[in-house]
Amino acid sequence: MAAAGSGHENWSSRSAFILAAVGSAVGLGNMWRFPAEAGENGGGAFVLFYIFCVILIGLPVLLSEVLIGRHGQANAPESVRRLARDSNASEGWSILGSMGVFAAFLILSFYCVVGGWVAYYIGVFVSDLFQTGLTGGAFEGRDPTDIEGLLPGLFGNGGLMVGLNLGFLAVTMFFVARGVSSGIEWVAVYLMPLFFVLFLCITIYGAFTGNFGDAVAYLFTFDFSKLTGEVMLAAVGQAFFSLSLGVAGMMTYGAYANRDTNLGETSGIIAVADTGVAMLAGLAIFPIVFAAGLSASAGPGLMFQSLPIAFQAMPFGSLIGLAFFIMVFFAALTSSVSLLEAPTAYVFEKFKMPRMVATLIVGGGAAVLGVLSSLSFNDMAEFYPLGFIPLFAETNFFDTLDGVTAKLFMPIGAILTCIFVGWIADTKLIDDENGLDGLLHKTWRALVRFVCPAALLVILIMGLLG
Ligand code: PHE
Repeated sequence: MAAAGSGHENWSSRSAFILAAVGSAVGLGNMWRFPAEAGENGGGAFVLFYIFCVILIGLPVLLSEVLIGRHGQANAPESVRRLARDSNASEGWSILGSMGVFAAFLILSFYCVVGGWVAYYIGVFVSDLFQTGLTGGAFEGRDPTDIEGLLPGLFGNGGLMVGLNLGFLAVTMFFVARGVSSGIEWVAVYLMPLFFVLFLCITIYGAFTGNFGDAVAYLFTFDFSKLTGEVMLAAVGQAFFSLSLGVAGMMTYGAYANRDTNLGETSGIIAVADTGVAMLAGLAIFPIVFAAGLSASAGPGLMFQSLPIAFQAMPFGSLIGLAFFIMVFFAALTSSVSLLEAPTAYVFEKFKMPRMVATLIVGGGAAVLGVLSSLSFNDMAEFYPLGFIPLFAETNFFDTLDGVTAKLFMPIGAILTCIFVGWIADTKLIDDENGLDGLLHKTWRALVRFVCPAALLVILIMGLLG
């Protein structure tokens, strides 16, 4: 269905928009990146500061982004330009959207690498199902260190890494090429609800069998001395990454929202769902980590190495493991689709080309960067593209893209968004879109105008200075 006059597609219903936006937010950021970051940044202090960032910074910025999109009814740079024009402000503000589109493209490139790992684990559990059968635990008779070794084993195989990465990207491209309602929406509406049900079951199981108390203490004990500038920047970056903020994704999805959708309410639903899944992921993974005596700071390996060990001890372990990684695959897909959609919408609207061609161009670019990211785990492990910057010293290509986008692009994009929505754009136009009134509206305005930009600037500077 096309919106009158805008010539572009819209979501078919309000719930389709919510599911698509939640689908964008919930993904590898929650299941894989959140536990990894929490563990690497010392647990409790990071987690509580993260929650604080979601409420006081993420949520106001999220609403700002979707409302820019819905007002503009176009790709992100164009939506910002339209709001600027309607507010008699400089159209140069569209740089905010362009930066976001570029960042989304960068994230897409390494996101599909991790998507490839998920695909690999689906394969591992399928073959395990054949070997160990339906009822017993997964990996019968195999040593836990053996199971942990699956991921490094994959990392060592450059060709396989590249193949899986490109495969995941190709699936993403397939859905984006089909368009908003028949491609993107379909993935979200059918796959997200399934994901939630299965995920809840696994967390409950983990709670009863693992070291749940230790995990809760680890994740929620606030130790002020651990809250350094770097930890704060990591937390804010993770909040933005998880909510899909600062990179034009939510502006792009907001542009497909109907006029009668309440954006304030929708933003709240997205933030609650996303943060809920991140907490569940922490509570599913850390009890197992502690019970198995693994290191909490294992980083990116956490989801891929500790959960499979837990599946070993579960009845129907291979089946549950398989179901789990299929679900993560779907969650990742609904996110990668939004990452590809932001630059693709820009390219096909700007250059007036078919969606299909734009998808191929953007996807092709992401494939090139993706190969470099895949190889940074093996053949190119010693290549540190930004090694001269202390924050990125000894950081390989993959981690550099991840760090630059979450720790620079996202906070800077969010600061600009706040200044634009809070100070530059016409207040009446903004109030037409935000769906808030009374105290909530006042609070949101104050956060966007003062608290968010100031806090982000301080965190950014402290984080960069280490
Ligand atoms: N929020 C997604 C996740 O948590 C990743 C993402 C970031 C998607 C930015 C779109 C834009 O997995």
